[in-house]
Amino acid sequence: MDLSKEFLFKHKGAYFRSDLTTAEYIDSLEDFEIRDSDVFVVTYPKSGTAWTQNILSLIYHEGHRDGTENMVTKIRVPWLEYNLDKMDYVNRPSPRLFSTHLPYHLIPRDLKSKRAKVIYVARNPKDVMVSYFHFFKLIYTTEQIPEFNVFLERFLAGAVLPCSWLDYVGDWYNHRDEFNILFITYEEMKKDLRGSVLKICKFLGKQLDEKVLDTVVEMATFENMKTDCRANYVQMEHDQPKQDNVHFLRKGTIGDWKNTLTVAQSEKFDNAFKEKMKDLPFRFIWDINEDI
Ligand code: A3P
Repeated sequence: MDLSKEFLFKHKGAYFRSDLTTAEYIDSLEDFEIRDSDVFVVTYPKSGTAWTQNILSLIYHEGHRDGTENMVTKIRVPWLEYNLDKMDYVNRPSPRLFSTHLPYHLIPRDLKSKRAKVIYVARNPKDVMVSYFHFFKLIYTTEQIPEFNVFLERFLAGAVLPCSWLDYVGDWYNHRDEFNILFITYEEMKKDLRGSVLKICKFLGKQLDEKVLDTVVEMATFENMKTDCRANYVQMEHDQPKQDNVHFLRKGTIGDWKNTLTVAQSEKFDNAFKEKMKDLPFRFIWDINEDI
């Protein structure tokens, strides 16, 4: 079965969830008004979005205990192109925090004014692909999930939401001069969470005292996020109980791709991606034991 035909629609070169947004809404975002104080988390899916949403939220809210304790991440840092909770984005109080998987060419025009801040999180694409494949267990039934081999072909061909990983990352990076943007990798966050939180704070112009910083780092570890129902997307498991014992926060590590890809599949991936990845500036690591 071709899932992309059932659940996704293609618009201006990108795929979107047909149950969650429309082409008209995507088009309207071009004119979405940006404020200086807006902060956007930009990611290709499965690159650490929920993690960064939580860190941002902790920096802006929880660390300071200002009353957002019981709000889930998707409300605190909602999706621009998927307004899941029908929020009034235009009139939200500042600072507005948003997440998006929009490719560069579909983002609000105003964002290129360099006023708002953009945090781009990249992750090594083999882990992205494997995480993506397992994510299907949360949204599709067993019969609907393609074999890994089929998913691999689709991923390499860019026939997944929102588009090809290479195009997505490459476009955002090649247009970096148009944005006030911080690039950070999942791998550096995993290897040095405290350093990464500090880096994000510095970019945001936020100075946290040591105690608050400790709290942010502590609450952003995989182990703590996994049991934090505000940050672990457990509601997805409840909303769509497709398979038992499947969690949004799954492994949370570097190199899990080795547990899914065969040697032949890994070589196929390398042949399609590795040469082209040389143009990207990111220092990905492919195993948790490698130094960053
Ligand atoms: P895995 O499926 O490899 O475990 P996204 O939020 O962009 O969809 O990314 C989801 C991936 O980020 C999942 O990867 C998830 O486990 C991982 N993740 C979320 N929070 C994390 C954390 N605190 N530390 C490490 N990985 C985390």
